[in-house]
Amino acid sequence: MRSNNKAYISELKDNVGQEVTLEGWLYNSRSSGKIQFLIIRDGTGLCQCIAEKGTVSDEDFEQLKHLGQESSLTVTGTVRKDERSIGGYELAVTGAEVIQAANDYPITPKSHGIDFLLKNRHLHLRSQRQWCIGKIRHTVIDAIRRFFNDNGFTLIDTPIFTAMAGEDTQTLFEVDYFGEPLHLTQTGQLHLESAAMSFGKVYCFGPTFRAEKSKTRRHLTEFWMVEPEVAFIDLDGLLELAENFVSFVTAEVLRSNKSELETLGADISSFAKIKPPFYRLTYTKVVDILMGERTKEFLAKQLEDLKNQKEQAEKRIAELEKEQQGQIKQWQKDKIAGELIELRSALDELGTRIENNPKHAKLAAEFQWGKDLGGSDETIISQMHDKPVFVTHYPRAAKAFYMKTDRGNDKVVLNFDMLAPAGFGEIIGGSVREDDYDRLAARIKEQGLDIENYNWYLDLRRYGSVPHGGFGLGVERTVAWLTGETHIRQCIAFPRMMDKVYI
Ligand code: 4AD
Ligand code: MG
Repeated sequence: MRSNNKAYISELKDNVGQEVTLEGWLYNSRSSGKIQFLIIRDGTGLCQCIAEKGTVSDEDFEQLKHLGQESSLTVTGTVRKDERSIGGYELAVTGAEVIQAANDYPITPKSHGIDFLLKNRHLHLRSQRQWCIGKIRHTVIDAIRRFFNDNGFTLIDTPIFTAMAGEDTQTLFEVDYFGEPLHLTQTGQLHLESAAMSFGKVYCFGPTFRAEKSKTRRHLTEFWMVEPEVAFIDLDGLLELAENFVSFVTAEVLRSNKSELETLGADISSFAKIKPPFYRLTYTKVVDILMGERTKEFLAKQLEDLKNQKEQAEKRIAELEKEQQGQIKQWQKDKIAGELIELRSALDELGTRIENNPKHAKLAAEFQWGKDLGGSDETIISQMHDKPVFVTHYPRAAKAFYMKTDRGNDKVVLNFDMLAPAGFGEIIGGSVREDDYDRLAARIKEQGLDIENYNWYLDLRRYGSVPHGGFGLGVERTVAWLTGETHIRQCIAFPRMMDKVYI
């Protein structure tokens, strides 16, 4: 407890039987004559506060009764343990003080469309769902730092303004840097490689930018990426590092955010499987799988399941629409309205998946060795596995200039993607780096990049070149996978997307 009996909701377990004052906002309320149920949130959690006529003054009682959602207030009362209550504790209110009465808060407990919520992101951040995601993102970032700090890595901050393209030149954001064209960084990797030659094991962690022209659920134009880089490492070593790292982050989220995961309806049972070793497949093997009979059957079965789910959703919608017509209380109507919005959006999603299934099946069946894996191909492979899959040895022509050519087969590079399971898809991309001066210079030219910009990078192959490599993990994609969010825009407080920047 703080001074003046002030307490945070997260501390109530230590204050049972005592009188405390909570400072927060009115999340929701309901009144039944002589008793009011107020849900208060204070940033640390939610708490049901019960105000009874007679126990609180008539004046307080009346004021609370008419108080709008998201009004700020302090509530004083005695802490009671109650298993059924949100958070397990409740407050028997003895007094309350309104700080600012809010009227007509735009986001009501009824569900709203995603576009409306994004326009109101500054307020929507207060919702239970965004709060849970924010808490989990915090744990993910904390675990990322801890993993590398505790394993001998040195943090290096790489620049955001850069002259070099690290990845696809189609996705560069140009900036006018005092009359010179520069761009916002797509990756810290190239600078990080030079730091690895000084510190051995390094990582950078910051925002990265890609002018992605695709409006998919997996792409933001500004996203956070952590990138480790290690001197004297081979592909096997990188895979081991990546699986230990992702297993650690997952375990930390489960340890610290079980209740948030439950609130979000995440698949907690699947967390237990996220342990090394992850599956290892070569690109060539993946192409075989995609084109094979097993995938055909898998997708046919999936189509059948989706159609069944659609039928069930339609049935439930019809039931609820009928219920809505009946004699029911307002709160029941609101509840049904909320469920209907969710069901209809799920139905939309099912419709899209049913429509896409045959298209994706065709793409997979007709896949040609040499192409990069598409989003739908990754999804299929990821759906067929219950823990993350490494896909290694992609065709050289489909990949970035810096990836090391496999000396045993110069058609492929020593790289990998890590696909998260259950259809989520790529969360990590990485590789061993080309460490031979001539080969690297040739690759830079081959890709039409201006070699002048890469002179310093080539120096790393002139002066004490060693085998080295690293990878990048996208924070938003990782959070989306762990929380079961379908769209990564929900996994950063203020998302930047191609079509719109709302706030
Ligand atoms: O596979 P990518 O492009 O790899 C690199 O940038 C390497 N230079 C990393 C390295 O080896 N140091 O991106 C790495 C990861 C992806 O797997 C994905 O999780 C995330 O970054 N990512 C994105 N996340 C959100 N929106 C986008 N537009 C993303 N592009 C990549
Ligand atoms: Mg990639």
